[in-house]
Amino acid sequence: MRTVETVAAVREALRPCRGAGSIGLVPTMGALHDGHLALLAAAREECDVVVASVFVNPTQFDGGEDLARYPRNTNRDGALAAEAGVDLLFTPQPEVMYPDGFQTFVDVEELSRELEGESRPGHFRGVATVCLKLFNIVRPDRAYFGQKDAQQVAVLGRMVADLDLELELRVVPTVRDPDGLALSSRNVHLLPEERRQALILPRALGAGADTHRSGIGHPDVVARTILLRERGVEIDYCALARWNGRLVLVAAITVSGTRLIDNVVLEGAPT
Ligand code: PAJ
Repeated sequence: MRTVETVAAVREALRPCRGAGSIGLVPTMGALHDGHLALLAAAREECDVVVASVFVNPTQFDGGEDLARYPRNTNRDGALAAEAGVDLLFTPQPEVMYPDGFQTFVDVEELSRELEGESRPGHFRGVATVCLKLFNIVRPDRAYFGQKDAQQVAVLGRMVADLDLELELRVVPTVRDPDGLALSSRNVHLLPEERRQALILPRALGAGADTHRSGIGHPDVVARTILLRERGVEIDYCALARWNGRLVLVAAITVSGTRLIDNVVLEGAPT
């Protein structure tokens, strides 16, 4: 595995591969866990060349969120990426992605405003912008994203369609711990008791999915009612969304200052 930090070095490294085989891209913010590894495994399986990026993207953090608090572990990420069969690891510094004078952003308008976007203004503008940059730098045939961040996939799918980008978005199912909690870099902030409280999120979504299957009752109402029962858990949203032809039950909660999101696909390909 080669690790590079500049746009020119990525282009140089990929030049011999262009046209020779398919290129897969897995964008991440590092602190790699089994969720990220599932994306890397899917890319390894389907593509000739696997490129991963590790970049804690400042433009997708809003003022209230602590960018500095985001977990970072460069050496461990490098070792895990190499083990997962990554060919090229791109680890740019912020000034490489956003040099002085940078002022061009992509705004996927409506999809970026609802639910997650309402709680985190500007978040999806940052995500869309950095992903478009990564797509332009790497020019992958396929880019891999997790169903865990369902709205992110919806926003990026819209951008790919609207801007006629020549790449396929591949969506990988959410990887969970055995107790049901979706893996997230933020889980490291949870103390044992908070982690126990957080389990209400997959349970509530599961109950919502059961309700949908039974055809009696409203999945979002059932899930919300269950979330309300757990003291110390704040509900940000718990709602149905129709994205990419799928009906998804999505929710976000805060447990002692740690914000967690999760979702379950109710209708359409479960990814
Ligand atoms: P990050 O949170 O590091 O996630 C990188 C990718 O891993 C995303 O596509 C995310 O959906 C996926 N992922 C995270 N947890 C997962 C899980 N438990 N199961 C399956 N996939 C999971 O998402 C971002 O970074 C950024 O917004 C990024 C797209 C890199 C742009 O900066």
